[in-house]
Amino acid sequence: MAKKVLVSGGAGYIGSHVTVELIAAGYDVVVADNMSNCDISGFEGVKKITGREDIPFYEIDCCDFASVDKLFTEHKIDAVIHFAAFKAVGESVSEPIKYYYNNLVSFLNILEVAKKHGGCNVLFSSSATVYGESKVLPVTEQTPRMPAMSPYGNTKTMCEDILRDVVYATSTQDAVIKGIALRYFNPIGAHPSALIGELPRGVPNNLVPYITQTAIGKRECLSIFGNDYPTEDGTCLRDFIDVTDLAKAHVAAVARMFGGKMKKGYEIFNVGTGRPVSVYELVTKFEKVSGVKLNYKFVPRREGDVMALWADPTFANEELGWKAERTVEETLASAWAWEKYLAEKNK
Ligand code: UFG
Repeated sequence: MAKKVLVSGGAGYIGSHVTVELIAAGYDVVVADNMSNCDISGFEGVKKITGREDIPFYEIDCCDFASVDKLFTEHKIDAVIHFAAFKAVGESVSEPIKYYYNNLVSFLNILEVAKKHGGCNVLFSSSATVYGESKVLPVTEQTPRMPAMSPYGNTKTMCEDILRDVVYATSTQDAVIKGIALRYFNPIGAHPSALIGELPRGVPNNLVPYITQTAIGKRECLSIFGNDYPTEDGTCLRDFIDVTDLAKAHVAAVARMFGGKMKKGYEIFNVGTGRPVSVYELVTKFEKVSGVKLNYKFVPRREGDVMALWADPTFANEELGWKAERTVEETLASAWAWEKYLAEKNK
């Protein structure tokens, strides 16, 4: 029988792409989402791409213990991939209680319920934000974490530690929990079908949705935050990873858990390309790929931004047998196709 994977936050940007890849790999998937930061179109897109109308969907908030418990009673869950969290860095600074409450309580509930139902594998969606402004580049999983720059970042560090401690404690108990934390670098792009992608609410915080919305005419001008960094072109360097490549890393991690290949009860993997690309470079690549001349201007640095961050993905490449495959150009083309699809749909 196929293993069953719960994807919490499975209607969101990364969760929907992961659901698609899990189904393609033959897993049974249950999706839970409280729809607080997405609409049903993401899940509809997943159904269209996979041709599966029967994916169980729970509109629940993982902060509600009873709802999570009910889901685990109705399905024998073999692994959880936990995405359900708030993710706006700026908002987390102005509303820390909201962020700490939501991101920590939802994860604690998942872990407690998993334990109550006999234990399972837990994959946590962490972030490269835990490395902060690293002195050593590229960062490996052994590079020390730095104090988080925001409550959002803090919740990622805290959830990693919670998972580590729960794995350790349960290793000698009846209900064993094994854990993997995937540290994402900068996920961008959309599914090649253009049926699912990123759906930012309001003005986008992240670079690529801002670029595509400017190109389509929804935003007047892209502000490039800082061109006086000590980098080659003065703009920040990031490791932009295609969302489908990223989704495939989850499938590889889940297979590692099910296949009994983990070397420790709790493991961490960087999920990045290993290739730094500057913000300005990304803008020019987008112009080339889309054929659109982008309206942009240089403005002062954004508070809280690190100058440069990119991954050493060797550990994931070797241990997960996974590698980022798409070029930045392909990924930018997919982001542009998605933006055009949205514009057409909303006409
Ligand atoms: N940028 C611009 N203009 C914009 C938006 C972004 O110039 O309109 C620049 C930023 O200054 C940064 C780069 O583009 O140099 C990437 O910015 P994003 O907001 O797209 O991504 P970040 O690297 O800031 O964010 C990532 C993750 C978050 C994580 C954060 C921690 O997306 O989940 O790193 O710093 F929390």
